[in-house]
Amino acid sequence: MLDAQNAPAVPTAIRREDYRPPDWLVPEIVLDFDLGAERSRVRSTLRVERNGDHDRPLVLDAEALTIVAVTVDGSPADYSYAGDLLTIQLSAAAATVETLVEIAPRANTQLMGLYESGGILCTQCEAQGFRRITPFPDRPDVLSRYRVRMTAPKADYPILLSNGDPIDAGDAGDGRHWAEWHDPFPKPCYLFALVAGDLVANRDRFVTASGRAVDLGIWVREPDLAKTDHAMAALKASMKWDEDVYGREYDLAVFNIVAVADFNFGAMENKGLNIFNSRYILADAETATDADFDAIAGVVAHEYFHNWSGNRITCRDWFQLSLKEGFTVFRDQQFSADMGSAAVKRIEDVRMLRAAQFPEDAGPLAHPVRPESYIEISNFYTATVYSKGAELIRMMHTLLGPERFRAGTDLYFERHDGEAATCEDFVRAMEEGGGIDLGDFRRWYSQAGTPRVRAQLGHAGEGRAVLHLAQEVPPTPGQPAKQPMPIPLKLALFGETSGAKLDERLVVFDGEAQEVVFDGLAERPVLSINRDFSAPVVVESDRTLAELAFLSARDDNPFARYEATQQLMLDTLLSAIAGGQPDHGPVLDAIRETLADTSLDPAFVAEAVLPPSEAFIGDHMAIVDPEAVRGAREALRVAIGREFEGQWRDAYAASSANRFEYSPAGKGRRRMRTVALGYLMAAGASDAPALAMRQFDDADNMTDRHGALAALVSSDAAERHGALAAFYDRYRDDALVLDKWFSVQALSTRDDVLDAVEALAAHPDFTLSNPNRMRALVGAFAANQRAFHDPSGRGYAFLADMILAVDRLNPQTAARLVPPLGRWRRFDPVRADRMKAQLERIVASPQLSKDVFEQVSKSLA
Ligand code: TRP
Ligand code: ZN
Repeated sequence: MLDAQNAPAVPTAIRREDYRPPDWLVPEIVLDFDLGAERSRVRSTLRVERNGDHDRPLVLDAEALTIVAVTVDGSPADYSYAGDLLTIQLSAAAATVETLVEIAPRANTQLMGLYESGGILCTQCEAQGFRRITPFPDRPDVLSRYRVRMTAPKADYPILLSNGDPIDAGDAGDGRHWAEWHDPFPKPCYLFALVAGDLVANRDRFVTASGRAVDLGIWVREPDLAKTDHAMAALKASMKWDEDVYGREYDLAVFNIVAVADFNFGAMENKGLNIFNSRYILADAETATDADFDAIAGVVAHEYFHNWSGNRITCRDWFQLSLKEGFTVFRDQQFSADMGSAAVKRIEDVRMLRAAQFPEDAGPLAHPVRPESYIEISNFYTATVYSKGAELIRMMHTLLGPERFRAGTDLYFERHDGEAATCEDFVRAMEEGGGIDLGDFRRWYSQAGTPRVRAQLGHAGEGRAVLHLAQEVPPTPGQPAKQPMPIPLKLALFGETSGAKLDERLVVFDGEAQEVVFDGLAERPVLSINRDFSAPVVVESDRTLAELAFLSARDDNPFARYEATQQLMLDTLLSAIAGGQPDHGPVLDAIRETLADTSLDPAFVAEAVLPPSEAFIGDHMAIVDPEAVRGAREALRVAIGREFEGQWRDAYAASSANRFEYSPAGKGRRRMRTVALGYLMAAGASDAPALAMRQFDDADNMTDRHGALAALVSSDAAERHGALAAFYDRYRDDALVLDKWFSVQALSTRDDVLDAVEALAAHPDFTLSNPNRMRALVGAFAANQRAFHDPSGRGYAFLADMILAVDRLNPQTAARLVPPLGRWRRFDPVRADRMKAQLERIVASPQLSKDVFEQVSKSLA
């Protein structure tokens, strides 16, 4: 929240080009916490050194702090505190600056800085939370060695954790105790963390490649201890994987993870003390779906991998955020691909990119992977910085191949260890270590927008075919004209008659237009393009439905095969929406072949037979028509359900008697089972609701129970009421499962979702203060295209009410709900006006946070 007294009237933008090195360095910091939930006292001793020849004062960031005392070299300091800055006059080149402040953790609803969650005191400092704990130059290029002492009441806070290694502990009298931790690695303050609470640990040990033993601990409230084994297994697998694949060992004797229920993001990579949203730690068969298990492994790996890509080498400034996030997402994607089905993992990652990043890149909040300016940096933890950033690293990996890519990362880690680096440093290490010129490739960091590639294959006869490529990067805010991007395209040609692969190559398409010539073709070729999704672009090809059906049955690249089926369904749906009478024939033929191909992994089949999401279909229309999209998609689902009813029944029966096992095969069987159930429901099979209810009742795992519930909740079946009530009764005390109960209703395809969601917002278990619960109801609802875009505009008003209410408590969470309203240009004038009216209502509200102000004002521009 903006402090009315301190804040400028219109928040100002920070620009990348204004970067200057820090005026003062802080090589050492000693922190002394006197911890309490109502009030904590923080004494901080900084060793400061003037950086360069200047006479500017020491300016420390300080937000929502009560300043008790400030001294310089032991004497009262000459200082002022205004506009969230503590300015201290210093005459010498170096000094010892001590501050004593008070903070109020329990009143901290923003969940930034030191706060309380379920009785645990914990911290979140990225990006700019440390300034809410103690005055400090809160910027990632100031690296310090930390020594931390915590004193707290022993009964409430028997466990005291911080970064690095535990040094000493003891009794402080009066029922209080203390502990001291020391982190030998200099780090920026955003990686500082402490935790105090009544916690128990799942303990284990990992021996690194060079033989050093690391004590591992996953800390939770006692009742949750049994749900930490999966996270522990993922942690050990991550540690091993980073040694094997990147040659990176862990560097401390201790690695701790703490799970908390109230958290703004997924998790945080604090040095030696990761803090997690409990949804990315806690899992067992009864309460977590396979998707939850996968996400836990992915996030545990992500935060662990940050120890090198983020902590040992950090970011010079927040414009470089993708240096750590894009690279680390790429690393966690590779890890998950290696641990399970690489093909399904790629499908999931691309689906995510298209669901979140492509719309961002096409809307008012579009920004480059390395942004040029921001008002509130928290708003830039985006799909573009994370997911598109990962695609940039993946393209370099594709261009270099695994060995040269590894030579590049080796050089990067060696050259910049202990530094605060830039995206440019990474690219240069790739060039020098990998032996490649990435000159124009840098445009991927600076230009926003998703490139569109037009691809037409001309068959000239005489064994020759010519692929005509043309690209266009659409204008984005502040970037009206673009340069062409170097686009790595994995291509293949298949013989139309034989089905044989005639040619396969990697082409770097780096101009506005380019021709690729293929010779020696014995038959007419069919084009497979952007295989493995080798570049984050939209491909518009002139391939016919028959050619897509051919690829859907024959392409030997699993992603391309999936993609052909999706494109076939998309083309079918769009022409149905545009022209009325749908022809489902080619889609049904393709699905028939996929279902008949016994060589395929069931997990892959389950993904391949599902139509694209409503939002994805809408993204391909000039103006989104939510009802028409829903109608066409449901009609296709009914057709697929009826055509293959026998096969869905067989697939369902074949997978029904399995005992729960978290393995790629087990996951594949469960996925197929719920997909088959969905199609039996769509087909209107009279026994389908009873099958769903039996699955719901008998399930020995959450994937099956939740799958059955989702199918029922989107149907008219009377059973849906009983299932929802039973689910609530069974899980009402488990917050993470109750979140699913909220989401499943918000994501239903029924016509009464809006009423249901409004009622759920008044449910006693709904709360604005827990970000998971907020997203479970409000975030899920805003992602339900048909329901959110109800022609009445009630969905828009509901979302705006929620944004305003949450903004008073937690601006970061509020700001993340704004983008769905910002998509108003994609809708008809009536809807667009209603969406805009809500954005205008928000921006006119008094005491708006700068988080929400930035997102809303940019959405209206
Ligand atoms: N660095 C975290 C990650 O692993 C992101 C993060 C955690 C974060 N907590 C946050 C970002 C709070 C902004 C605000 O990706
Ligand atoms: Zn991260």
